[in-house]
Amino acid sequence: MVKVLRLKKELAQTAKEFLLQKGWLATGMTMGRSVQRYVLLPLNDKFDEKVLKKKFEKSSIENRNLKPLPPMPGNLKHMLQGLISEKDIEYVIKSYDTVGDICILEILPKLEKYELVIAHAIKRAFPSIKVIARKAGERGDIFRVMPLRIITGEKRLHTVYKEHGVLMNVDLAKVYFSPRASHERLRLAYLVKKNEKVLVMFGGVAPYALVIAKYQPNCRVWTVELNEDAHKLAEENIRLNRAGHIVTAILGDVTTEVPKIGERFDRIIMPFPEKAWEFLPLAVKYAAPNSTIHIVLFVKDSAIEEAKKNILNVAKKAGRDAKIAGWRLFGSYAPRTSRYTFDVLVK
Ligand SMILES: C[S@@+](CC[C@H](N)C(=O)[O-])C[C@H]1O[C@@H](n2cnc3c(N)ncnc32)[C@H](O)[C@@H]1O
Repeated sequence: MVKVLRLKKELAQTAKEFLLQKGWLATGMTMGRSVQRYVLLPLNDKFDEKVLKKKFEKSSIENRNLKPLPPMPGNLKHMLQGLISEKDIEYVIKSYDTVGDICILEILPKLEKYELVIAHAIKRAFPSIKVIARKAGERGDIFRVMPLRIITGEKRLHTVYKEHGVLMNVDLAKVYFSPRASHERLRLAYLVKKNEKVLVMFGGVAPYALVIAKYQPNCRVWTVELNEDAHKLAEENIRLNRAGHIVTAILGDVTTEVPKIGERFDRIIMPFPEKAWEFLPLAVKYAAPNSTIHIVLFVKDSAIEEAKKNILNVAKKAGRDAKIAGWRLFGSYAPRTSRYTFDVLVK
């Protein structure tokens, strides 16, 4: 038996984010469902009943039988059981990324000797993976390219990646790319309305622009990118997805290129959490009346209110009324610091 928070299905996402933020979700259990559109979110022993009842008025806390989560094929620790010692498994970083047929691992120096064992375990589990690479340093400051070293497989870091029906050429040796933003791209694409003018600052190989174009073909999107290699791939990807009538890729610095477009935008997407603050005044300046800015930031989980206040202050300084329509947790970054998108309505 496990304690669960039982509430209406419509509240599930908000409640899940709240529990994750508080550290109250029992992450090793499946989420349950009951008849009549209720979900059951498993709680660990740290939750505070009073706070939950106050926050989710029509919820209840009950004892239920939920199943433990089955071992995931994507969990490296499970895959390595029996191949490396129990003691060393503790140091395995269980998550990894796949971009097309390339798998990217993070291996701690103390597990150096297991590098090939780990890579071969992945190859056995996923025969479609052709290249296994390993993170080999920190991302650069501006282009945010991840240094990678190939452990085994074909000697290339170029691949074709598919997301939400969009095909993208990606060269991980030269550009930033993260499949982890895939759900966020879809969420934003669903928000875009007919005839909107959308600006993607820091557009990379155009994943945001192309997913938007796929789901809302009656809009216009500008995607601005400083890295020439990423820009070239963006242009290739626009052709590949026959989206040239919707998406325009621009090479250059947003500071100089956005003013040249000669538009004000109904929606501005800022997927560069390390530097987005720096460019928020620019986004506010080119936001049309009643537009939305989606700014992605790294924020301490305890400093969300402060971040909201700071965003509104930037808008105020530019003489614009703004309101935070919502925020969404979108991946962790460091202990107690996560990546958030803030949806900001600009009057
Ligand atoms: C975190 S990456 C995001 C890329 C892309 N949006 C994606 O999700 O795949 C940030 C991107 O911004 C680009 N960049 C950095 N400074 C820029 C600037 N001043 N103007 C335009 N692009 C910039 C980098 O080259 C990099 O591709």
